[in-house]
Amino acid sequence: MTTYELIDHEFDVVVVGAGGAGLRATLGMAEQGFNTACITKVFPTRSHTVAAQGGIAASLQNMGPDSWQWHMYDTVKGSDWLGDNDAMEYLAREAPAAIYELEHYGVPFSRTQEGKIYQRPFGGHMTEFGDGPPVQRTCAAADRTGHAILHTLYGQSVKNDAQFFIEYFALDLIMGENGECQGVIAWKLDDGTLHRFRAKLVVLATGGYGRSYFSATSAHTCTGDGNGMVARAGLPLQDMEFVQFHPTGIYGAGVLITEGARGEGGYLTNSEGERFMERYAPNAKDLASRDVVSRCMTLEIREGRGVGPKKDHIYLHLDHLDPKVLHERLPGITESAKIFAGVDLTREPIPVLPTVHYNMGGIPANYHGEVLNPTAEDPTRIVPGLMAVGEAACASVHGANRLGSNSLTDLVVFGRAAAIRAGKVVDKAAPIPGINKAQDDKILARFDRLRNANGSQPTAKLRDEMQQTMQKDAAVFRTDASLKQGVAAMSEIYKRLPDVKVSDRSLIWNSDLVETLELENLMTCAIATVVSAEARHESRGAHAHEDFPNRDDVEWRKHTLAHVNVETGDVVLGYRPVITDPLTPQDQGGIDLKKIAPKARVY
Ligand code: FUM
Repeated sequence: MTTYELIDHEFDVVVVGAGGAGLRATLGMAEQGFNTACITKVFPTRSHTVAAQGGIAASLQNMGPDSWQWHMYDTVKGSDWLGDNDAMEYLAREAPAAIYELEHYGVPFSRTQEGKIYQRPFGGHMTEFGDGPPVQRTCAAADRTGHAILHTLYGQSVKNDAQFFIEYFALDLIMGENGECQGVIAWKLDDGTLHRFRAKLVVLATGGYGRSYFSATSAHTCTGDGNGMVARAGLPLQDMEFVQFHPTGIYGAGVLITEGARGEGGYLTNSEGERFMERYAPNAKDLASRDVVSRCMTLEIREGRGVGPKKDHIYLHLDHLDPKVLHERLPGITESAKIFAGVDLTREPIPVLPTVHYNMGGIPANYHGEVLNPTAEDPTRIVPGLMAVGEAACASVHGANRLGSNSLTDLVVFGRAAAIRAGKVVDKAAPIPGINKAQDDKILARFDRLRNANGSQPTAKLRDEMQQTMQKDAAVFRTDASLKQGVAAMSEIYKRLPDVKVSDRSLIWNSDLVETLELENLMTCAIATVVSAEARHESRGAHAHEDFPNRDDVEWRKHTLAHVNVETGDVVLGYRPVITDPLTPQDQGGIDLKKIAPKARVY
């Protein structure tokens, strides 16, 4: 094996990932005077948050009555009662403060006539604890909200002296003998050097793993890198079976058309020109939650009412809207529709199809961002020195299905929460962890093995097979047969990983090696997803199991924990209870527990 020199860095806090959650955590840490590093494999403002369009949910009440209790209720219902009530309360309660902070940091939100932050309706966000019409809760910067947030948070982080390590690929966590995290080793892509970051706290903010599927709205960089690192550290992944399909990816291209389009009055039609959502969700209609709309679209197509020559997609209409609304509120998708579908949306509908968009599952964490390694005796056991926030984490604030526009809220609320917690648990005067040679050697041996991999299976071939399998066998609707087939196929592909072939042996801008490191991370996520899905014998949120069409709260209101043996791809499943206690008792202004007790989920 090649001997690799490690360049040393010492920080109080190292954040891995520079999307919305990573930057909000970085900023919060730096503001408190922690010596903070942010490591990112892409330039911060190219992180996938930049693609978030429609907005960020918070009960500001700028456009009508709302409350954090209504927001919490909608989130609980949206999660199909799999989210943890403490985390969901924290999200809804803290969202307004987090938004006002963003405003003060400089996010250029769209404005109402009176100059307040503009808010639009979004799927599953309703008034009156779900009994009233849709609420206008989603704060927007036109349809480029993620872009606006990301640029602002990056500027603020730089202003607060956070140090950025840009185009560094994080390889693995340095774990101590007592299960604590002591840092991370990263590869600098532009000069091939290897770097050891020792820190009192590592925060994983590495995003989702949408690219384990063939068609996804996610950037090609969404490869579950944090999830892979956690699995290699022997820690579990939680609720990986819950994969969100966004109803309106552009047919053929997969590019996102924001739910904000329906929030502004857009609607879906089938081949008969019918606004079919009125049949399925009489109250919320096109603004029912995403899992519901995606399933209805799939059913329409299955029953022969899809549009186009192959009757295999659906139309989204915006052609009835005032062009001024499109220009002011939806300029980004106006452009995307033109470029990716050749459609002038002032005149024609956009061809759309449900497309993989978000991972509800991820690294188990509590609402402070602390990573959990649950046991039967202690289901909330914390991993010292390690946090996870944003899409990489499973707090669990979205349960079995995330509401649109709750993702950006999650990023900033929990990025901020992690910094608040760090202020309480990280001692600035404490020493930085020492060198852990055994761990370094293990991490470098894996890196060297992949760099010199000389098997018969090109990375792109294995990736394509994984993506096709996931797309086919772990789709919007699943069956016993499709999931069993998916487990068998994914296991077989996983077992071929040791036979991977990397052609480029260099250390500088070696995209072949980057993609292979990413492939290992994606494969870990994919196998955890399909095995967890096969085992869950009910339908809940995004997991629509046709052989078990009902939700089963007695047997299955619990989180899945998937322990992946990264050498073999074998997965051992465990479970932990859902947290049902909210943070604030009702007599102190909290939510009435009876209101959020499980019931049938209708929109
Ligand atoms: O439709 C959208 O604009 C996406 C928002 C989200 O996923 O939260």
